[in-house]
Amino acid sequence: MRDLDQFATDVLAGLKQPLKKLPSKYFYDETGDKIFQEIMGLDKYYLPRCELEILRERTSDLAAFLPEGPLEIVELGAGDGTKTVHFLENLVTLGRSVNYYPLDISPEVLQTNKSHLVDVAPGIPVHPVAGDYFKTLPSLQTTHHRALLFLGSNIGNYPNDKAVDLLRFLHRYMSTDDVLLVGVDLRKHPKTILDAYNDAQGVTRRFNLNLLTRINRELSADFQVEHFDHYPVYDPVSGIAASYLVCQKAQEVSLLGETFLFRTNELIHTEVSQKYSLPEIDTMAEKSGFRDAHHFTDKRDYFSVSVLLK
Ligand code: AVI
Repeated sequence: MRDLDQFATDVLAGLKQPLKKLPSKYFYDETGDKIFQEIMGLDKYYLPRCELEILRERTSDLAAFLPEGPLEIVELGAGDGTKTVHFLENLVTLGRSVNYYPLDISPEVLQTNKSHLVDVAPGIPVHPVAGDYFKTLPSLQTTHHRALLFLGSNIGNYPNDKAVDLLRFLHRYMSTDDVLLVGVDLRKHPKTILDAYNDAQGVTRRFNLNLLTRINRELSADFQVEHFDHYPVYDPVSGIAASYLVCQKAQEVSLLGETFLFRTNELIHTEVSQKYSLPEIDTMAEKSGFRDAHHFTDKRDYFSVSVLLK
């Protein structure tokens, strides 16, 4: 199925649910990518800085769990690679021989990734692979042991059962002694988490609303975007941060020949960002077949880079 057909199918299916839903993976068009970069720079959005601290300052602790010999570092959803480059450079300083395989849906972002790597760490061979990693990972041929990287708390954007399925999928494409490094946002004071998704500058609001703008543009819909509001919530019991769009003025939206009614105050669920405790990560690792897990956290214990051993 073409990407646009898949987008249309997913949007139609989501809007037909009793609680309307839109998948968060569609946040990331060209505008969404740019707004996400702004989010990453927000003071309250602590996640990238915590993860970078771990990757930079705990490299040798992490490296102790990596298989011996030359390494193939395969990064899923690699983006521009700005965080990973520090980790790779430190590995080289520790005497490790590495080849880097960034996997990403966007060929443009992979181009940026490669140029960045070539500028900052010219000695590290980069082999970008464009496409959906569910398709590219199974066909990726490498000859040495692998360290798979799944960073950025991307795992949090899957509901827990789907996250376990994803870990099982990754486990399948690893050989014995390969490792998976997964970046996980941890449970903490609920206010700190909610603030990360509710910035006063309204950047996350723009990010959420951009999804409707994208649907209007790409699927010729007519959402009155200005009458929707961004509403994030965090439930400290389940560990789920969720984002909603709230319809502020009733409207009928036409989309691909169908009409959808939005009542005043009706919600559209757009994103889940699950937060975990370390024991919860252990449970997920065990359920998905990994034999062990080791956790490396930042100084505030906000974030973990967890090493899962096959
Ligand atoms: C990409 N992902 C891990 C981000 C998160 O924190 O769930 C996306 C995001 N949504 C709102 N702000 C950031």
